[in-house]
Formats: sequence, C-alpha cells, structure tokens
Amino acid sequence: MNVFITGGCGYVGSHCAKRLRQAGHRLRIYDNLSTGHRPAAPADEICVGDLADRAALRAELAAFRPDAVLHFAAFLQPAESVQFPLRYYRNNVVNTINLLEAMAELSICRLVFSSSCTVYGLPSKPAITEDMPTEPISPYGRTKRMMEQALADCGPAWGLGSACLRYFNAAGAALDGTLGEDHDPEIHLIPVVLQVAAGKRPHVAVFGTDYDTPDGTCIRDYIHVDDLAEAHLAALERLEPGRQMVLNLGTQRGHSVREVIEAARKVTRRDIPVVESPRRPGDAPAMYALADRAEQVLGWRAKVRNLEEVIASAWRWHSAHPDGYGS
Ligand SMILES: NC(=O)c1ccc[n+]([C@@H]2O[C@H](COP(=O)([O-])OP(=O)(O)OC[C@H]3O[C@@H](n4cnc5c(N)ncnc54)[C@H](O)[C@@H]3O)[C@@H](O)[C@H]2O)c1
Repeated sequence: MNVFITGGCGYVGSHCAKRLRQAGHRLRIYDNLSTGHRPAAPADEICVGDLADRAALRAELAAFRPDAVLHFAAFLQPAESVQFPLRYYRNNVVNTINLLEAMAELSICRLVFSSSCTVYGLPSKPAITEDMPTEPISPYGRTKRMMEQALADCGPAWGLGSACLRYFNAAGAALDGTLGEDHDPEIHLIPVVLQVAAGKRPHVAVFGTDYDTPDGTCIRDYIHVDDLAEAHLAALERLEPGRQMVLNLGTQRGHSVREVIEAARKVTRRDIPVVESPRRPGDAPAMYALADRAEQVLGWRAKVRNLEEVIASAWRWHSAHPDGYGS
C-alpha cells in the first residue's frame, strides 16, 4: 500500500514507519520537524510540511495518492496542555480536521489514529478496558477523545474506516538499535531515569510516594515501541471502510515508579539518585491496559513483556547516541 504518515520523524511514528517499510509498504512522511528528527527516516520519504498548511498538505496527498494514512503528529504533554490549551486544540484538533477534510476530498478512506490512555482520565480501577468511561482531565486528553469522536462521525458520513489506538506509556527503543526516543525536554520516566544514569541530570524526582499502591508510587503500563509498531501494521491491514476500531495497546501489567528505577539500576549498573517529591495534580495512582480486544481484533499481543528488556533497549540507544539524533 501507499501509506502517508504524519509525524513519522517522531518517536512512535519513526518506529512504525520502519516496520511498515519492512513489510513492503511505500511511505511518504509529512512532518514539520517541530519535535521530530530528520535522521529518523530516509531522506527520500520525508516531506517537511505542517498540517496547518492546508494547501501543501492537500497537494502532497494528491500527489502521493495514499491508500491509508497513519496520523501521529500532535503535541503530547498533558501538563503543558493545561498551561497552553489553545496550542493543543489547534495542533491536535484543528490540524487533524485539516487532514480529514483533505482525505475526504480525495476519497482516502483509511486512517490509523494515535490516541492515548489519557482519554480515561482518573479511572475508577487500574485495569482498563475500552468500554470504561472516557473522562479526560487535561486539554491534551480531551483533544484525543474529541478526535476519536470526530472519526466515528466520519465513518457513516463519507466511509472513513479508522483505528483509534489508545497507547499506554510508549517506551524503549528499536530492538535492532537503529531508532530511539529523543524528546526535548524529556518528560517520560524511562528516558529521564536513563539521563540520570548517564550523569546528565542529578536525580530523578518521584512525584508522590503515598499512593494506594504496594510501594506508594504510581503504576503505569510500559509498552515497547516495537510492539506498538507491530499493532499499527496489523491495524492498517484490518481497516474497513465506514467502521471504527477503538483498541487499548498495552502489556496487561503495570510497574511502579520505584520498580522502573530499580530495573534501570540493574540494567545500567549505575547509581540513580532519587528525590521524593509531592504528588502532581491529575496523576492516576495506577493504570494498565487490558488489551484482549486488540488480541481478538488484530491478533496482536505485546511481545516485549519484561521491563528490564524495555529499559535495556532504551539504554543501548541512549549509550550509542548520547545527544540523541544529534549524535
Ligand atoms: N509517546 C507516548 O508515550 C504516547 C502515548 C500515547 C499516545 N501518544 C501519541 O502518539 C503520537 C506520537 O507521539 P510521539 O511520542 O512519537 O511524539 P513525537 O513528538 O516524538 O512525534 C510527533 C511528531 O509529529 C510532528 N508534528 C507535530 N505537529 C505537527 C504538525 N502540525 N505538522 C506536521 N508534523 C507535526 C513532530 O515534528 C514529530 O515528528 C502523538 O499523537 C501522541 O499523542 C504517544
């Protein structure tokens, strides 16, 4: 298939693009490089462009004539979205509408959309299924939920077939060492912990040690980015015009912040100083995915289920690329 990928120079998008390339799909990556990196994709696949530029976007789509679109491009920091909600509504909502309008005009009827477990807000229990209430508590989470709803409406209206993939915490780096995670500033726990191990930060802050969890710290589900890539490939192959799939992508188990730090100490054999800090507003105590639906619908299950393996893949990449893609 011809597959058009927005945000394909970013962390999750570049890993998914690599998997699709291996599977023989022809790719066009549309990315404004605001948080993405040129070396994360082959130069001849990249078109530097912004989703806000409707004319350029439409022209690229019309020229490439994709069979399907994978839409990763977005802003993704919940705390930042509280401070600057309109930036988030503009990039994640308005710009997604730009993409959908161009797709409708050109009769492109297949879309895989990066949604997020943030749509669940503060869930009533830690093990999360897709039919639990979606009550996001940040503008970021609301942009994702709004777009899921918009995609559902586009199904009957013009035949859009969509997959909304609700990732839990994307983690790790390509198992073959070719790609990794390079966000600036880095907010995700595993790379932050590894920056401490590498001596780039003095300590890791643990936000909240009095949660109702076995060791008092928050529990999250760390899904390896290569497993996410495999799920995107499977979803792409199963899109059906007019129908929407909504699927959790996670490992079916959670790890606490303290467990992540301990595993990182084992993997890196480095000291990782910790500073215990107050809770952050809006952090759910514990969340992990029940991903049975993804298994039934896609025949997919996370393969990398060992936290140390996830961390080791990230450590290998960060050790080989101490300045990220700038190395
Ligand atoms: N990383 C996670 O843990 C996680 C979890 C849940 C959901 N998600 C979702 O997955 C997607 C990818 O996340 P990521 O971690 O790879 O982020 P990322 O910042 O690494 O990648 C986003 C990419 O989109 C590009 N981009 C942003 N706005 C654009 C625009 N207006 N026009 C063109 N390109 C634009 C950026 O340059 C970047 O390459 C996002 O939609 C995010 O909300 C990520």
